[in-house]
Amino acid sequence: MKITLSVIKADIGGYVGHSESHPDICSRANELLAKAKKEGLLIDYHVTKCGDDLELIMTHEHGEENRKIHKLAWDTFVQCTKLARKLKLYGAGQDLLADSFSGNVKGMGPGVAEMEFEERVAEPVIVFMADKTSAGGWNLPLYKMFADPFNTIGLVIAPTMHSGFSFEVHDVKESKKIVLNAPEEIYDLLVFIGAPSRYAVKAVYSRSANEIAAVSSTQKLSLIAGRYVGKDDPVCIVRCQGAFPAVGEVLEPFTTPHLVEGWMRGSHHGPLMPVSIPDSTPSRFDGPPRVTAAGFQLSSGKLVGPRDMFADKSFDLAREKANQVADYMRYHGPFEPHRLPLDEMEYTTMPQVAEKLKTRFKKI
Ligand code: F6R
Ligand code: MG
Ligand code: MG
Repeated sequence: MKITLSVIKADIGGYVGHSESHPDICSRANELLAKAKKEGLLIDYHVTKCGDDLELIMTHEHGEENRKIHKLAWDTFVQCTKLARKLKLYGAGQDLLADSFSGNVKGMGPGVAEMEFEERVAEPVIVFMADKTSAGGWNLPLYKMFADPFNTIGLVIAPTMHSGFSFEVHDVKESKKIVLNAPEEIYDLLVFIGAPSRYAVKAVYSRSANEIAAVSSTQKLSLIAGRYVGKDDPVCIVRCQGAFPAVGEVLEPFTTPHLVEGWMRGSHHGPLMPVSIPDSTPSRFDGPPRVTAAGFQLSSGKLVGPRDMFADKSFDLAREKANQVADYMRYHGPFEPHRLPLDEMEYTTMPQVAEKLKTRFKKI
C-alpha cells in the first residue's frame, strides 16, 4: 500500500513569548484534523508541538505536494491563528507569510517534510521536530545516521545497508540541488553539508532498495519573506530498520548536542538539546535549541504511537552536556562564535550603526 506521510508545521503564536504552544491551539488543530479524517481526506493524524511550533503529522493516499492536504494544513493554521489572536498569544500568525492559500504551502511560511512510499510489513518512522534552529541543523545527524560507520554499525555489518545511501543537498540561497553518493563521495558531500547555513540535506535514499529513507524541511523563512520573521524551526522524517538504520542508530547522533544556528533572536550558535515533547519549552535565553522525536509504527497508514523517543533516560547525559555547553557559549555574550557571523544573523543593527558612524570612520 502506497501511503504519504506529511509533516507540516508553523509557528502561529507562542505562549509565553516564543517558549511554548498553548494547549487550546493544539486542541483546535486536533478538532480540525479529526474532521478531515472523518471525511476521508486523511487516513490518520497526530497533532503535537515543539516549543512554539504547531506540528501536524498526517497520513493519506494523495501523494506529496497535494493541494487538498496543503490546504487542510493552511486552513488549520489560519483557524488556529484566529484563536491565537483571541488569546493574544505572542506573534500570532507569525509564519503565515501569505494572505491567502495558492495551491501549496511551500514558500508561504509553514515548513513541510513529506514522503510517499510503499508501507513495509512493519514500518517504523521517527518524526524529528526542532525549535529555535534552522534546516541545516539536520545535516550532521543525517550524515552520522546514513554515512558514518562509527555511528551506524549497520553500514558495515548489515548486507541491506552496505552499499550506502545517497544524499540530496539543497543550496538554500541559490535554489539549486545536487545528489551525492555515500560512501564514495563523502569528502565532496562534507564540503557542502559542513556549511549548514547555506547547504541543507533535503532527502536521503537507500541505494540498495532505491527507496526514500529520510526527508527534511529546508525552508528559509527570512529568504522567503526578505526580512526577519523568526527561525525556520525544521522537521525531518526518518524511516528505520531493515534497509534503513535501526531506531537506535537513528537516535544515536543526538547523544552529542552539536552546535546549531538559532537560539535567541535566531542569531546565535547553541547546542541542540534532545528533549521529551513536554520538555520542548525553550526558556533560557529563548533556548537552548530543542529537538524532539515522535516514533510511530505505521499500520496501513494508521499512526500507531507516538512514542516520545527522547524521554528515555539514556539522553539525560546529552541534556546535561547541552546545558554545560549552553553555559559556556553564553559566556561569550555578543561575541562570535556565540553570536552568528554578520551575514547569518536574523537581526542586525549593523547598517544603521554603520550609517550613523560613517563620518567617524577614517582611512588607515
Ligand atoms: C528565535 C525567537 C526568539 C525571538 C525573541 C525576540 O527564533 O523566536 O528568540 O527572536 O524572543 O522576539 P521579538 O522580536 O518577537 O520580540
Ligand atoms: Mg515564535
Ligand atoms: Mg519556533
